[in-house]
Amino acid sequence: MSFQKKAHLNIPKVAIIGLGLIGCSWVKALRSTKSVEQISGFDRNMDSMEQALQAGLIDDFSIDVCDVVRDADLVIISVPILAVGDVLEQIKSSIGDHTILTDVGSVKGNISKAVTAVLGEDFDRFVLGHPIAGSERSGVSAADEHLFKNHKIILTPEKRTSEVALDLVSDAWEVTGGKVELMTVQHHDEVLAATSHLPHLLAYSLVDTLANDEENNDIFNYAAGGFRDFTRIASSSPIMWRDIFVGNKDEVLKALDLFTADLQQLREVVANEDKTQMMGTFTRAKAARDHFTKILARRAYVDSMTSQIVNYVAKPGGKLSGEFRVPGDKSISHRSIMLGSLAEGTTEVTGFLEGEDSLATLQSFRDMGVVIEGPHRGRVTVHGVGLHGLKTPPNALYLGNSGTSMRLLSGLMSAQNFDVEMTGDASLSKRPMNRVADPLRAMGAIIDSAENGRPPLKIKGRETITGGQSLKGIHYVLPMASAQVKSCLLLAGLYAEGETTVIEPAPTRDHTERMLKGFGYPVEVDGPKVTVRPGGKLIATAIDVPSDISSAAFFMVAASIAKDSDITLQHVGINPTRVGVINILRQMGANIEMFNQKEVGGEPVADLRIRSAQLKGIQIPEDQVPLAIDEFPAIFIAAACAEGTTVLTGAEELRVKESDRIQAMVDGLQILGVDAVGTEDGAIIKGFGSEGSFNGGEVDSVDDHRIAMSFTIASLRANAAILVKDCANVGTSFPGFVELANGCGINVSNEAG
Ligand code: S3P
Repeated sequence: MSFQKKAHLNIPKVAIIGLGLIGCSWVKALRSTKSVEQISGFDRNMDSMEQALQAGLIDDFSIDVCDVVRDADLVIISVPILAVGDVLEQIKSSIGDHTILTDVGSVKGNISKAVTAVLGEDFDRFVLGHPIAGSERSGVSAADEHLFKNHKIILTPEKRTSEVALDLVSDAWEVTGGKVELMTVQHHDEVLAATSHLPHLLAYSLVDTLANDEENNDIFNYAAGGFRDFTRIASSSPIMWRDIFVGNKDEVLKALDLFTADLQQLREVVANEDKTQMMGTFTRAKAARDHFTKILARRAYVDSMTSQIVNYVAKPGGKLSGEFRVPGDKSISHRSIMLGSLAEGTTEVTGFLEGEDSLATLQSFRDMGVVIEGPHRGRVTVHGVGLHGLKTPPNALYLGNSGTSMRLLSGLMSAQNFDVEMTGDASLSKRPMNRVADPLRAMGAIIDSAENGRPPLKIKGRETITGGQSLKGIHYVLPMASAQVKSCLLLAGLYAEGETTVIEPAPTRDHTERMLKGFGYPVEVDGPKVTVRPGGKLIATAIDVPSDISSAAFFMVAASIAKDSDITLQHVGINPTRVGVINILRQMGANIEMFNQKEVGGEPVADLRIRSAQLKGIQIPEDQVPLAIDEFPAIFIAAACAEGTTVLTGAEELRVKESDRIQAMVDGLQILGVDAVGTEDGAIIKGFGSEGSFNGGEVDSVDDHRIAMSFTIASLRANAAILVKDCANVGTSFPGFVELANGCGINVSNEAG
């Protein structure tokens, strides 16, 4: 919960007790925002009071703390934690009937106890607070009215705290630019012990150790950035920190014990020159440090949309030219991490897609103890742990926007010996998971979900299931053509007793089967039937990820519809189970040439040359639907530019992708003036043909990456600009889309919303 900033705040009198950095900065901010009429100050130190008066931070002071408290509407107690009880004793008799009090200390539990001891259990006008801001500098001269801007201010109201008191203190913080958040006292003290108190203890300890070293002059002379960065906080006020460690002893000791055990382990790792374990610790820590704010919130390291709003503005017209490569295939990238982790040995991946979805998979495996180096320019090194080497993750696996991660991992997680929870963002949380949970349950998995089979999914480990039995193989006829469900069951089948056979109603992408074979694991494919048996192992290999045909599709359509265009897309994956978009566009009259065909790591690739062509409307063959399942948003744009009507049927799956893609596309097309209607399992789109164009307008991507990119390329044939809203999720599959699009002739810019 966070509070709305008040437009104006008017507190007649504030009393500030303790003229240190935090208290002085707060009153300075209150003064500069004209939120208070009179500020009276008290400090044990006369100099500080005079200095604060001279600096205009306070209007008056007194050597008797009771004088400043009398008549005050708000009393700010900003003294070392262990002194709060004494201060309360001294001012107790001067606190007015309506006076509200607050503090700024780093520990809340012991202040709460002091309030109870001195003012009584029912005292409801003391608001416990803690601004997460500061500096190693202290005193009146360090006061900074901007110190709290955009910093978190934690308030820990208790049952007894009155709402009026909480509101006033929240408002008094909000005017400083701070962001108020509420927490319980206990949670605050636990979190702060780990994130603030422990690091201060370590900094003091390290500097003290080095300073006691006989060679200390040399150490301090030659200590560069590392020493400075790590120990800056050892210059903080010793009294303040002494009090914090006493005040929060229990929580600090817990954090310290955990750290000591890990440090001892790391000592062993260094002593043994265990390079893999070192890389494990360092890469996990680097990923964590790079994204530490999300970690503090217990969120994914790779998070999408909600953190920033991004809109695209696409100017009308343009033609495409150039020869370029789109990022790596998403499906193959996911699988390279999964199978690389389960393999024995070290797998080198090149061309890995550094998009949020595949990074979510990567992070999940790191969370399960796999050492993964990179990604760095598409290179990833996965130190496989074998089929039985995954470890319990410390938290729920957060899979962002990625349905593939959640569905494939469901199969794998059902066979592990630890419990796992998997969560995702708002879009993933709405997607159906029973399609994987039902057959997995039939194999013996125990899976809980939210209503109607939606995430989060909680999967029980085999050890916790009676007797730790393994899964049973299954003979499963897929009710829908889904590579995700097929792959999920095959992964579970690696661990199940007996045979697992999946029969698909129509061919779907077969990257899992191909890659399993690439890792040396036997897979039997017999027409629509795929079978795996347990007992095999995966041997590490090298994987060269081709460019993603699903990303290439936007440029295939773009170059086809924009007059005078001619582009070449390099190294595109043309797996026969993925080429529906090429087949459909060619049937519509597109000019797509394929050359340099070869096979890399079991996957066929080619360069594709696409030149403008007048497209015509077609009835899309249903057998092409699973082969082009992700490309329909782009194909809808092609259909709008075609001569005649395009009819899509048999594509009800589109309604349960990252968004309802039929609805999202039809809505957007209609806004841009196209005659399009959605049907239960597809759409009917009347093309405007060679002389027509899209109107300009504002369309909503509904946070779906492929909808966002599709409407962006529509601008090539628009008569005015198109604003595409909420495009941040393009990063899930196509990092660098805007730059690449501009580079080849699409005039699109990224605007923060
Ligand atoms: C994928 C399979 C497809 C596709 C998704 C990726 C995969 O989903 O839409 O983007 O990597 O297996 P379905 O198999 O559910 O159709």
